[in-house]
Amino acid sequence: MPTKKLERHLFVLFGATGDLSKRLVLPALFEIAQQKHAQRQFVVLGVARSAFDDAAFRKDAVDGMVKLAGIKRREAQQWAKEHLFYHCLGDVHLSDYMRVRERADELAEKHHLGPNRLHYLALPPAVFDDTVEKLDEAGMCCPEKGWTRVVIEKPFGHDLASAQALNQLVHRFFDEKQIYRIDHFLGKETVQNLLVFRFGNAIFERLWNRDHIARVEITVPERLTVGTRAGYYDRSGALRDMVQNHLTQLLTLVTMEAPATTHGDDIRAEKVKVLRSILPIERDDVVMGQYTAGEIGGEKIAAYQEAEGVAENSKTETYVAMRVRIENWRWQGVPILLMTGKAMPRKLTRIRIVFRRAPVALFREYDTCNLTANVLNITISPEEGFSLLFDVKRPGNTFEVDTQKFSFDYGETFGKSPGAYRTLLEDVMRGDRTLFVDAEEVEAAWKLFDPVLQQKHTIHPYPAGTWGPEPARRLLTFDHDER
Ligand code: BG6
Repeated sequence: MPTKKLERHLFVLFGATGDLSKRLVLPALFEIAQQKHAQRQFVVLGVARSAFDDAAFRKDAVDGMVKLAGIKRREAQQWAKEHLFYHCLGDVHLSDYMRVRERADELAEKHHLGPNRLHYLALPPAVFDDTVEKLDEAGMCCPEKGWTRVVIEKPFGHDLASAQALNQLVHRFFDEKQIYRIDHFLGKETVQNLLVFRFGNAIFERLWNRDHIARVEITVPERLTVGTRAGYYDRSGALRDMVQNHLTQLLTLVTMEAPATTHGDDIRAEKVKVLRSILPIERDDVVMGQYTAGEIGGEKIAAYQEAEGVAENSKTETYVAMRVRIENWRWQGVPILLMTGKAMPRKLTRIRIVFRRAPVALFREYDTCNLTANVLNITISPEEGFSLLFDVKRPGNTFEVDTQKFSFDYGETFGKSPGAYRTLLEDVMRGDRTLFVDAEEVEAAWKLFDPVLQQKHTIHPYPAGTWGPEPARRLLTFDHDER
């Protein structure tokens, strides 16, 4: 799709002093602002409750950008001096929002930004409703001139009912076309490339079905522990934090049909169709776990239950493995395996397409010849790229076979990819919703996982630094030809 122009606007960042803003949003804005076409196109008004003035906010933001995103201090300071402003929200009454609006209008006038406003809500779910209502009362949702866009961060609800309520709330004040729900996995280059890979290369698309694929694995193990996020994570758990959104995005992009066009609505329609074709997930299709004390790379890791802010005897899952079945012509009978967990030996976000083996064991008389299945690995993080595994005959007069790979590495070929937040925020600035999640898609994903939340699952312990609880092997190890 042709790139839309980045128009002048004021970027209003609610929750500007929080961790998400410092770690991801402000560094992404800094990077966008370094590009020639973006210069003088926007300034940022940070809004939060901390009693800062412009100078104190700039210092706090720069410290965070240097420490958390590795940006050079002098460059960050230079940008902050000209582009970062702050408004302390006070007691969050309507009059406080009226003052935010006045400050926004003043800044827009001074910097010749016109009427366009981008509101980024980096806020905890608990204050979300009140903020949106006050924004509306202060006349900041649908102004008469220019555009107003609102960015919403996950979690989009904590179950189906709350997601529906959240969608109804935002639809009272914003049209769906104004809403940008972020799932940052969609901003990753390798995730975007899934569409090109599948629908731009006819050789793969023809094999992409139950006749040739034995199973699909989508695995997102993380080395990270809960860290300091227990306040959020202990109420969420791996199913809500990772599976309902990030893993589901990967699942739909890998299994959907070709969209009519590359327009966001057409892509989302195909994703929703796949979600609707997934059979109900049974209790036996799921294994959950929670990490106990262990060691990762020589470092001692305390048990999840010992982390600050985790409830005593918490039953929150830090690991989920799941088998999903898509009941359509393309995928019937092909198990799709999802797995994610915290405190695992290493981070490796990867999709594995395991092809069916050769139908006839032609070389069976040679006991040195153990043919394996062809596997296509699509690696999303930390490396980005893909590799195709295939068997070759070793030189010599026996049929001894070796598995080798064709591979492609994004970094080696194209250098470092832009961060997901930079891509997504620039898309919001351009008004391109292709990489964002809409209300229907969010609800379709919750419809699938809501029953899993209702099921009573045993939470199996696994030591930090291992690949998850033993009972998960039942789901994750297969004969390659299993249908
Ligand atoms: C976030 C989750 O959405 O994604 C985190 O809340 C998780 O728990 C993170 O660690 C993983 O993202 P990435 O880009 O580091 O793979």
